[in-house]
Amino acid sequence: MKKISLTGIKPTGSLHIGNYFGAIKPALELTKDYDARYFIADYHALNTIKDPKELAANIRGVAAGWLAAGLDPGKVIFYRQSSIPETFELTTQLMAFTSKGLMNRAHAYKAAVQENTEKNEDPDAGINMGLFTYPVLMAADIILFDSDVVPVGRDQVQHIEMAQDIAQAVNFNYKCEVFKAPQALVQEDVAVVPGLDGRKMSKSYGNTIPLFCDEKTLRKLIMRIVTNSQSVEEPKDPDTSQIYLLYQLFANEEERRSLANRYREGGMGWGEAKEELFSVVNRELSPLRERFNEIIANPAELDAILRRGAEKARPIAAATVRRFRKAAGIE
Ligand code: ADP
Ligand code: TRP
Repeated sequence: MKKISLTGIKPTGSLHIGNYFGAIKPALELTKDYDARYFIADYHALNTIKDPKELAANIRGVAAGWLAAGLDPGKVIFYRQSSIPETFELTTQLMAFTSKGLMNRAHAYKAAVQENTEKNEDPDAGINMGLFTYPVLMAADIILFDSDVVPVGRDQVQHIEMAQDIAQAVNFNYKCEVFKAPQALVQEDVAVVPGLDGRKMSKSYGNTIPLFCDEKTLRKLIMRIVTNSQSVEEPKDPDTSQIYLLYQLFANEEERRSLANRYREGGMGWGEAKEELFSVVNRELSPLRERFNEIIANPAELDAILRRGAEKARPIAAATVRRFRKAAGIE
């Protein structure tokens, strides 16, 4: 039997190239060897997005993004989290095995508390229970489908470890393997894709290169990448250059070597390096953009794909919830 790979993306904005290299591409690569279950984590997005139109558009945008990037819904079980009610029953089941202390230590919650403290506000200001219990819902997403591996960027590893802890706490209590304990799978070379300002590329920092923006916007954004004040003549170090780090993701080996040499020789300004970057990014993203535009223009078909995915997912989910009920004495 093949092992199971599962991952989700929360539809809190437009997909960017950090999502693509850190999550989507490695996840699609895994579909060759694993049975894959990939989904849109829409109830995770509800914690931050309260505008219904925005959330609905984001859900379709992320779904179309997966498909444009090459997800084959005939091979991968592809669905929306909100279409699987068993997720929420399992969340309640897992709550009873999750210590509050574990949630106190979750990075996202801690960061929000720290931000409030720095602003001299109440530590829990603006923090809803959805954010606080976020890792339990995520553990349910994962455990529900008997996942072996969860391909994610490095920032998500703590959540997968929590899912592992929670699954093990249940198994330990009932002295049998009620749930499978998952493993995070981080592709190290693309674990953190840098953004326009050099920090991790993230929707929350507003420093992203969106995956499906038009060519003009793409060029404009690339020209905005922050550089140092080295002159054209000066030799430059590719390994510390933002532009080069991004270039590496899109270029082939020969192109990488050639641009690294031009950096080291001097005589190439940042403007020229950015043009080189634009050309390889656009080469890879143009066909994706075209597919994305076609898919998003046909929402009924997109919704049907997700519905069919949910139909395949639900019996698997129901079996997991039943297993817990039986172990717990709630039949
Ligand atoms: P964002 O930080 O923009 O809100 P998400 O948290 O929605 O992104 O991330 C969705 C997936 O993409 C996760 O698996 C995450 O690890 C991955 N990811 C996001 N940003 C990056 C990045 N800059 N580099 C690598 N992976 C990333
Ligand atoms: N928390 C993930 C993120 O912010 C999204 C997510 C929700 C997820 N449930 C998941 C990822 C289950 C992997 C597995 O990116």
